Amino acid sequence: MAMGMGMGSARRLRCASPACLLLAFLLAMPGLTAGLTRRYTFNVTMATVTRLCTTKSIPTVNGRFPGPRITVREGDRLVVSVHNNINNNVTFHWHGVRQLRSAWADGPAYITQCPMRPGQSYVYNFRIVGQRGTLWWHAHFSWLRATLHGPLVILPPRGVPYPFPKPYREVPLMLGEWFNADPEAVIKQALQTGGGPNVSDAYTFNGFPGPTYNCSGGGNSTFKLKVKPGRTYMLRLINAALNDELFFAVANHTLTVVQADASYVKPFAATTLVISPGQTMDVLLTAATNPSSTAFAIAVAPYTNTVGTFDNTTATAVLEYTPQRPAALRGLPAPPLPRYNDTGAVTNFSSNFRSLASARYPARVPLSVDRSFFFAVGLGADPCQSPVNGTCQGPNNTRFAASINNVSFVMPKTSLLQAHYQRRYNGVLAANFPAAPLRKFNYTGTPPNNTFVTHGTRVVPLAFNTSVEVVLQDTSIQGAESHPLHLHGYDFHVVGTGFGNYDAANDTAKYNLVDPVQRNTISVPTAGWVAIRFVANNPGVWIMHCHLDVHLSWGLSMAWLVNDGPLPNQKLPPPPSDIPTC
Ligand code: C2O
Repeated sequence: MAMGMGMGSARRLRCASPACLLLAFLLAMPGLTAGLTRRYTFNVTMATVTRLCTTKSIPTVNGRFPGPRITVREGDRLVVSVHNNINNNVTFHWHGVRQLRSAWADGPAYITQCPMRPGQSYVYNFRIVGQRGTLWWHAHFSWLRATLHGPLVILPPRGVPYPFPKPYREVPLMLGEWFNADPEAVIKQALQTGGGPNVSDAYTFNGFPGPTYNCSGGGNSTFKLKVKPGRTYMLRLINAALNDELFFAVANHTLTVVQADASYVKPFAATTLVISPGQTMDVLLTAATNPSSTAFAIAVAPYTNTVGTFDNTTATAVLEYTPQRPAALRGLPAPPLPRYNDTGAVTNFSSNFRSLASARYPARVPLSVDRSFFFAVGLGADPCQSPVNGTCQGPNNTRFAASINNVSFVMPKTSLLQAHYQRRYNGVLAANFPAAPLRKFNYTGTPPNNTFVTHGTRVVPLAFNTSVEVVLQDTSIQGAESHPLHLHGYDFHVVGTGFGNYDAANDTAKYNLVDPVQRNTISVPTAGWVAIRFVANNPGVWIMHCHLDVHLSWGLSMAWLVNDGPLPNQKLPPPPSDIPTC
């Protein structure tokens, strides 16, 4: 295949004997095969691209933007050889992959590995276990994921059907954000001034902004989804935007959600979707047998309650019916999208998610909890040290910061996983991340006068197999805002959610412990809370952070340190020999 993607060799037996036929039959049975090894090569290189009449050199994988699609089957091993040929440090994260006993391949810089320096290489080697659907990969260093990202499609094991009718075609659709400026310069400047970063110039579909933007009219800057009347398509949606949750709709078409974050959900219909950065969703779209137009607009627009500025544009792609002749790009029937701050529309959509919870895909919700945590997540401030031109651009001459339980995460200078493996914690991390805010306040009411945060590389140590509940509570400091929280190394169950302050006495009784959706990224509702549960059965150091990169840069992050279990297969293996050093 092109771009150095060496696919794993398909396993085919040519049989002459009954014994061989039996073996071939057994190999085709799900669960009996160990899966194939799929090999990919990622050459990180600069490439020249033009969008919105701006031509610039951007970091890419194999010269492509968005990057190449990885396709595996559940149970396969994935081996990705990465070579860093750009003038910047880089790492790659396989967003949503559980990484069972392969924490060394998870990828967040300074958490599970030191970054690859220019010229360095590293091989990510891990298996896909118990997951199927759509995930994605992205760089996990600074804001490099703006252009370094691509789909990771996990098909069911050979011979295992989807729990819904097989679609005619499957189409990965990555939603992204285009900056005319260099995103690295944008975040650098924001961290210098203390203010909010400049916003993006366009939203994109598989890298294309489409005809709603100036200097973006042509067919080669618009993503087209060609469909045949009466056929059903599965869109593998991925929100790869840096800083924006998105509304998504297709004019005149209802969508059926069947998968979220590589877990099946009970199918439900929706006309407008909401998808947060980090999240994925497989949705079925059935093309009309007698469409009222030859083409329809597919649109995205932001959902936010930020008090700062944001990219308040709408991007469109085209749903084009074939074999009719190509349709115009502009003036197509457009889907109505909610207003940018319509939290009600978000709640209506989000409340539909239930895990499939079938005999084949049971829910396995932890019914009891060993350790409970209450995390207040939101923004805050730092005093104005080292001002630019005498001032800082955050609120009231401060610097913007973000925190969990008022601890703003400080990236260490070395890999936390390496420090853990060597049991050399001194000077690297402190195992005292607070289980609840030290200073309680009315989280969604009037904020406290002092909004300064503390700083530290603090983690929560967990014994192997601990059943964990975390209530994530939004705060109204610098404005209540939705935060898409992403947990590495686990899928968690979303057992409850609500608005205002979490109230254990009343809210716990309303939990869904039967079929809660399983995800790796969940948005803490604006001025609300969400409760998640997981069992800490995967040893390693796992970061949990807001997937709005600006908030991650400001410190909205923490890490769980999951200790080894007693059995040999419950221990973190030694690091691969090629792991980069700091
Ligand atoms: Cu998709 Cu830590 O991120």
